Amino acid sequence: MTKNKKLIQWVNEMAAMCQPDKIHWCDGSEAEYNRMANILVKRGSFLKLNKTKRPNSYYAVSDPTDVARVEDRTYICGDSEEEVGPTNNWMAPDDMKKILKDLFTGCMKGRTMYVIPFSMGPIGSPISQIGVEISDSPYVVCNMRIMTRMGSAVLDHLGEDGEFVPCMHSVGYPLEEGKQDVPWPCNRIKYIVHFPKERAIWSFGSGYGGNALLGKKCFALRIASIMAREEGWLAEHMLILGVTSPDGVKKYIAAAFPSACGKTNLAMLTPTIPGWKIETVGDDIAWMKFGADGRLYAINPEAGFFGVAPGTSMSTNKNAMLSMTENSIFTNVALTEDNDVWWEGMTDEKPSHLMDWLRRDWNPTLHRPAAHPNARFTAPANQCPVIDEKWESPEGVPISAILFGGRRSSVIPLVHEAFNWNHGVFMGSMITSETTAAAVGAVGQLRHDPFAMLPFCGYNMGDYFNHWVNIGSKSTEDKLPKMFYVNWFRKNDKGKFIWPGYGDNIRVIKWVFERTEGVESYKDMPFGRIPNDTALDTNGLDISASDLKDLFAVTKEQVEHEVAEINSYYAKFGNHIPAELKEEVKLLAKRAE
Ligand code: GTP
Ligand code: SPV
Ligand code: MN
Repeated sequence: MTKNKKLIQWVNEMAAMCQPDKIHWCDGSEAEYNRMANILVKRGSFLKLNKTKRPNSYYAVSDPTDVARVEDRTYICGDSEEEVGPTNNWMAPDDMKKILKDLFTGCMKGRTMYVIPFSMGPIGSPISQIGVEISDSPYVVCNMRIMTRMGSAVLDHLGEDGEFVPCMHSVGYPLEEGKQDVPWPCNRIKYIVHFPKERAIWSFGSGYGGNALLGKKCFALRIASIMAREEGWLAEHMLILGVTSPDGVKKYIAAAFPSACGKTNLAMLTPTIPGWKIETVGDDIAWMKFGADGRLYAINPEAGFFGVAPGTSMSTNKNAMLSMTENSIFTNVALTEDNDVWWEGMTDEKPSHLMDWLRRDWNPTLHRPAAHPNARFTAPANQCPVIDEKWESPEGVPISAILFGGRRSSVIPLVHEAFNWNHGVFMGSMITSETTAAAVGAVGQLRHDPFAMLPFCGYNMGDYFNHWVNIGSKSTEDKLPKMFYVNWFRKNDKGKFIWPGYGDNIRVIKWVFERTEGVESYKDMPFGRIPNDTALDTNGLDISASDLKDLFAVTKEQVEHEVAEINSYYAKFGNHIPAELKEEVKLLAKRAE
């Protein structure tokens, strides 16, 4: 328990409103985890996987209506609509509070209310932040124990008057007299709400992923982005990796790609060219602050991976596969006859019989996916075979390069480099990417997703661009990370990916590495700097000269179209767009001439 007055008062208030049968303060122990898992097994929410093949691991399937983040139900309730900007849903805080009060009143009847203290970042690190999630979902408790540092140690650190972010969560499925529970309780009505002023989060109606594990997108990105702006740092949707060259030189790189666009894969890739090594610091979120030396240092605030299962295999991402061999949770994948997991892309040959994520019999003749496209694994980061030795270092790792990326079937080259910081900020602001199954809605639609933060920035996106410009003015170009824009997803006229991707992305990382060393291996094109004719290492790669050319081909018309596109996008933000970026649009238009 705790002596923190604010916490005790908040828990009492919430309990009075939600009316649970019981309150359980999570201690984060293994015994507690096992108890929670057993509750879920009894309820039919968890199935214990094959003990030999997948020790201490569980299988869950969600309600078919609760499978991904709900962006249109996500709100930032700042003081004004302008404060949160045109990319966020807004409602006046008082109006929203009325709605939430109605929804939460009595919402935990017949259930246990779990109090989940957690730290984003190593407990006690100066960069770390504490949150407390109240939830009526034991599934959330189990996932939070893997994804964050969770339990009594956090309460000890919080002390009597420590600050925490209150994160209120309910699946919205009270068990009034006689009402039967279901394996995946949730509610048709969903609200994912953030109050910037109080730094508070309220989530109702969903039990899935970023909707329910509130330390992740709600806290570590939306609320943290607001803190970061006020305090002069960066909270970003970025992986962090360490790359070591054959000469033994090590550098760290951060990369922002939209949801389901390759962060987990890049963060732990197995290089296909000899002598290079990649190690993982984080696969989804980076908090970056300046060190005394004027360089940006990044920490991974999470303690686990909540990764996309489909497409993950021993050939595409061996290290992810090895991270989830035990002590893991699998949600919305398929179940094999011997109680192990399977998903599309896991093996070349499909199993002859499965239970699919909708609990139906499945066989390959059915031609429908057995796993949901946003099926995920929850695995402890310390089980990753290539976890970086500094992944829990409280001071973070110095970042030499920042990559931006997205899914673009054309126009954007395999890689290009920014001329300078502000040009890099411009590149981040102009990311567009095809939508994926990570969020509810149509898949494959091109949309602006600046800095891969469209669903995650807690304030006006124009002000966020300005914050990035300001960060650059706090140091010098030689100390700031160099910035790049990559695109693994260009397609040929037959609709096939031209670039092999995955382990071969090391070839692009190698060029990026050399550029941070100052090797003059580039040539200019309108978007920026691309590798010169000999710079990209294609040794041992089976790719034709014409395909290679296509990966970088951009016509004048295409550049002009991007210019027109970014101009009309910027117009949405009015005078929130910094002058520096308006200047960058003009420069790009000029380079296209
Ligand atoms: P979130 O967890 O949603 O933030 O996603 P993420 O950015 O970590 O994406 P992830 O690495 O999980 O990849 C998503 C999907 O893209 C998976 O199905 C991968 O197999 C696929 N993918 C990843 N990297 C590549 C690549 O280099 N080329 C191709 N063609 N597909 C890739
Ligand atoms: C994403 O959608 O970017 C994710 C998964 O990383 S979730 O935790 O659901 O946000
Ligand atoms: Mn993500």
